[in-house]
Amino acid sequence: MRNIIKNINWRLEKDRNGIAWLQFDKADSGANVLSADVLEELDRFLKNLSEEQLQGLVILSAKPNGFIAGADIKEFTKLKDSSAAEKLIRSGQAVFDRLENMPFPTVSMIHGFCLGGGLELALACRYRVAEDHQRTRLGLPEVKLGIHPGFGGTVRLPRLIGAPNAMELMLTGRTIDVRRAKNIGLVDYVVPSRHLKKMSVMCIRNHLPVHKPSLGLRLTNNMLVRPFIKKVLIKNVNKRVQEAHYPAPYALINLWESYAGNPDKMLAEEARSVAELITGSTAQNLVRVFFLMEKLKSMGRSTDFSASRVHVIGAGLMGGDIAAWCALQGMNVTLQDREAKYIAPAMKRAYRLFKKRLKKPRLIQSAMDRLMPDVNGRAGLKRADVIIEAIFENVEAKQNLFREIEPVIKPDALLATNTSSIPLEALNRALSRPERLVGLHFFNPVAKMQLVEIVASASTGPDEVNRAKAFTRQIDRLPLPVKSTPGFLVNRVLMPYLLEAVSMVDEGISPADIDRAAVDFGMPMGPILLADTIGLDICLHVAEIISKGLNISIPARLRAIVKEGRLGRKSGQGFYVYKKGRPVVSKTSSSRTSAKDLTDRLILRMVNEAISCLNAGVIENADLLDAGIIFGTGFAPFRGGPLNYRYTEGSKNLRHRLEELEGHYGKRFHPVKVLESVTT
Ligand code: NAI
Repeated sequence: MRNIIKNINWRLEKDRNGIAWLQFDKADSGANVLSADVLEELDRFLKNLSEEQLQGLVILSAKPNGFIAGADIKEFTKLKDSSAAEKLIRSGQAVFDRLENMPFPTVSMIHGFCLGGGLELALACRYRVAEDHQRTRLGLPEVKLGIHPGFGGTVRLPRLIGAPNAMELMLTGRTIDVRRAKNIGLVDYVVPSRHLKKMSVMCIRNHLPVHKPSLGLRLTNNMLVRPFIKKVLIKNVNKRVQEAHYPAPYALINLWESYAGNPDKMLAEEARSVAELITGSTAQNLVRVFFLMEKLKSMGRSTDFSASRVHVIGAGLMGGDIAAWCALQGMNVTLQDREAKYIAPAMKRAYRLFKKRLKKPRLIQSAMDRLMPDVNGRAGLKRADVIIEAIFENVEAKQNLFREIEPVIKPDALLATNTSSIPLEALNRALSRPERLVGLHFFNPVAKMQLVEIVASASTGPDEVNRAKAFTRQIDRLPLPVKSTPGFLVNRVLMPYLLEAVSMVDEGISPADIDRAAVDFGMPMGPILLADTIGLDICLHVAEIISKGLNISIPARLRAIVKEGRLGRKSGQGFYVYKKGRPVVSKTSSSRTSAKDLTDRLILRMVNEAISCLNAGVIENADLLDAGIIFGTGFAPFRGGPLNYRYTEGSKNLRHRLEELEGHYGKRFHPVKVLESVTT
């Protein structure tokens, strides 16, 4: 190699064969992301190279973790308005156009992740050569941030691989592995790491053929066919989201249907569409949620604690699933219960989880080998780095257990309880070192719910909290530190919402109408169906605990229905009747109350309780609170969390509306005053 030119983010070398190697190494960043300065530098390199007599150009990454992760999301939050955004996107498009029109062959040499703007850059090259490895992942996840590709991806991708595959990738935001990428023609050549450079050179020197879509796939972009495909695409998107909440997929489909025959016009419209989306509230809130997630992830870095052995006591619904999840994440896990017969169902469920997630028999077998039944705890207790108690929700039973195990476990083992409602102060009394008990409050179903509340009492040691956070990250969950108060954060905020829904049923409003109002607001599931799914007995139990401390009254209806043995989905009947596990829902509306009234009653009780939690210091700040409610309950992410919703609705309006509702429905709507110290 000779002629090395280095800039801040790019490094150019030219070899003896006249091939330029342009290596991306984003300064001060662990991953390559495309920021405005990176694109400007790239443009200068490309301009100079285009004037030289070269055989070809290879673009590659210097980062071990991957090629390019996408655009720099931080820049999304700094856009003044949609015209500033459009200008920025147009200049990015111009760089990729220059790349596409280089007077010699160009290759993207891909390893690891190649996502979003990174894949769009690769699409502007003539060849895509990718490493044959399971860590190679390609995709266009923009839709998850409320936008669609903006650097020419919407134009180039359908042309390259046909509309059905291209739209599937862009509308779901899913990433695919290198095998699938090769099958659909997204990459041209797949080779082992050691042959990547050789293959790139071969593409350039031998002018190897590039992927060409079949005639059938090319026809999918034809103007006569597009309206039919559009109908199918819209129908599928409608199954997942509503246009008012998530406009991006609809904008993408319209863009393609209107302009797929005219690439120049489509590029201009692509930029205009993304500029509008990116400055809209959905994208801004989803970007906020992205950073909230990063914030929760960063919490695990406060200590270098690393566990390898986990012991779970109680192999019921929660303990069994926590144990399986830890084994799936590579931990060696022992699972204890009173008798072997209580552990067997958990082992069966674990096998199903491993089969679904790991697919290959060899991987499933090794996960099963990592999960060991341990009836009396003899194998695991003494050696575990983390012990998680998940037995019955009973103070005395838990205290007795702690007394028994404390002398046996390692002095530095992390000792955690999964209690959902018992204050830690009542449990750590049984320990000779009360400061070591911390709460690891998982949510059901464990494999789906990302959040884990890290519960600390006044006496819990800070080191224990830090180690609990680190462990939670180690098993790929999101830690949320909360104070030990009734219901902690998530259940406490969720409960008034569920109870309000039950009160509505009492007033004669149909469960289907109530659930529809919540889903139309953007909740993943209505409150009545959620209560039925959790189990009405469990809801009542948690409500009783929370209501004692917080003066929340429980509608008589809930007690009555539990007394009748209608416990929800698990008993075949709750507020809904279940046939083959599915609720029978009437489609016609029976309610005379306006939908707005239903929504406000449900959501504003949540918002009000969220403010109470903030005032009471259950959680450190408003951002963490929103993160907890979004990741712990699925609260409409595009609204950015209950407190963010309060800001966007305006806190004066909120107060006024709560007062109105208080006038109609009573004291439970009395607006909680926001303390000065927490108005973040
Ligand atoms: P469960 O009733 O399904 O399981 C409890 C298990 O503990 C049973 O298998 C029982 O045999 C075993 N057990 C009881 N005493 C024991 C002892 N002394 N030694 C060993 N094993 C013993 O209960 P579930 O729902 O799994 O709840 C467990 C804990 O998790 C409770 O503290 C609960 O509050 C909490 N939790 C429950 C959630 C839920 O949705 N069910 C959600 C979050 C936390």
